[in-house]
Formats: sequence, C-alpha cells, structure tokens
Amino acid sequence: MRTKLVVGNWKMHGSRAANQTFLDQFLAGVDALQGVEVALCVPFPYLAQMQSALSNSSVSWGAQNVCEHSEGAYTGEVGASMLADFSCKYVLVGHSERRVLFGESSALVAEKYARVLAARMIPILCVGETLAERESGQTLAVIDEQLSAVTRLLGVGAFAGAVVAYEPVWAIGTGRTASVAQVQEVHQAIRNRFSASSTSPRVLYGGSVKVQSAGELFALPDVDGGLVGGASLVAEEFLGVCRGAVEALRAG
Ligand code: PGA
Repeated sequence: MRTKLVVGNWKMHGSRAANQTFLDQFLAGVDALQGVEVALCVPFPYLAQMQSALSNSSVSWGAQNVCEHSEGAYTGEVGASMLADFSCKYVLVGHSERRVLFGESSALVAEKYARVLAARMIPILCVGETLAERESGQTLAVIDEQLSAVTRLLGVGAFAGAVVAYEPVWAIGTGRTASVAQVQEVHQAIRNRFSASSTSPRVLYGGSVKVQSAGELFALPDVDGGLVGGASLVAEEFLGVCRGAVEALRAG
C-alpha cells in the first residue's frame, strides 16, 4: 500500500496567534499519526511561521498558489523560488477556487505546475468537475482535460512523484461529500490513465472530508489520502481526519 498523505488547505484563514495555537495543539498529537504524511498549505505570509514551527517535526508545509512566471515585474505575485526559499515541500496548483474565481485555465495551471517542478517542490494538481458537468456525464472528460494540459506541456513524466487531488467542485465547502462509489470511480480512472507509464502520482480526495468520513474515504483502494479545507482549521478536528488515514492504513 502507498503511504497516505493528508494535506490541510487553510485557504484565506489564519492569524499569527491563531496559527500558533493550532500548531501547539496539532504538534502535541502528531506522534500518534505513524505512517501518515501530513502537510499544511497556508497563506503566503505564514510560511515563515510554518518553517520555524515545523522544521523539526514530521509535518511538512506548502503554499496554495504560485505565479506562472519565475520573477520580474508582476506586482503582487509570488514566484516558485520564493516558496522554495521557505522550504515549502508542496504547492497547490489549479484549485477550483483559483480556476473559478480567478479565471485560471488548465493551460495556465500547467505553467504553474512547471514552475513548481523547476523549483524542486511537489505540485498538488487539483482537478474536478462542477455539478453541471457531472450531471451531463462529463466528469471523466473534464478531469482528462485538466490532466492533459500538464502532459501536453511537460510529458507524462512530470507526474512522477507528484500529487493529484480529485476535488468535485460541488463537494467543496458544501458539506456534501462525494459517495464512496463516485470517489472510487474517478480515482480508478485517474490511476488507469497512468498505468501504461511507470509514473504513478498519489491521488488524494478532497471535498468536505470530515472526521466522520475520513476513514472510509481513505480506505478506498485508489485513494492515497485527502486534501482537507474546513476540517483542517481546528487542530483536534484535523488530527481526527489524519487518524482516519492511520485507521485506513491499519485496515489495509
Ligand atoms: P473543504 O475544502 O474540505 O472545506 O470542502 C477542500 C478544498 O477546497 O481543498
């Protein structure tokens, strides 16, 4: 069985004080998460805080976005080398909130993916369909297009050691988790897509993962862990979600 990975996506939440409380409580519980890798993707201003609090722990950290350019006159943007400067391990690219609210196309997301790789960090490529796309039977085609943008630009080898997060847009922040059958179907399709090459990214599920649902979702054969939004904001809750991955490992 592949190692489980659970990534918290704090989105635009946090303050230095609240983060410190979270870190103190979370770090007190991480020893019980043997065999599971945990990472926190936080807003840019808090990367330094993560680096100093987590450097001597088993928890990794990362960012939620990156600029598609390496450096230059791009006011307000943050480049991949800057994220690497704070020892980020992971960078989310193509989260649906970026695609929908900030108009990021799959081609742009692929350029961002390339920057993350070039700076020797691990991209977490978010893919997923809207409700309308699911209802019109386009789920797998949409995901295929989102993955293909990266393979077109960089080749299938760019997925070696990378992470793909399947996040149905209709399940994000809605309290509506995809069913076990829906998740397994898409994860298997993603896995099959790479079966002909030696490349095999880890595939996470995201979308309203909670303490109650984590164990069952993470135990699915093609689910390597989760990308967790709301339930990663409170230490006890996120520890509970991570424990779901420990249980899934034991059951496997
Ligand atoms: P959620 O967010 O767990 O709050 O649904 C997941 C995500 O957007 O990564």
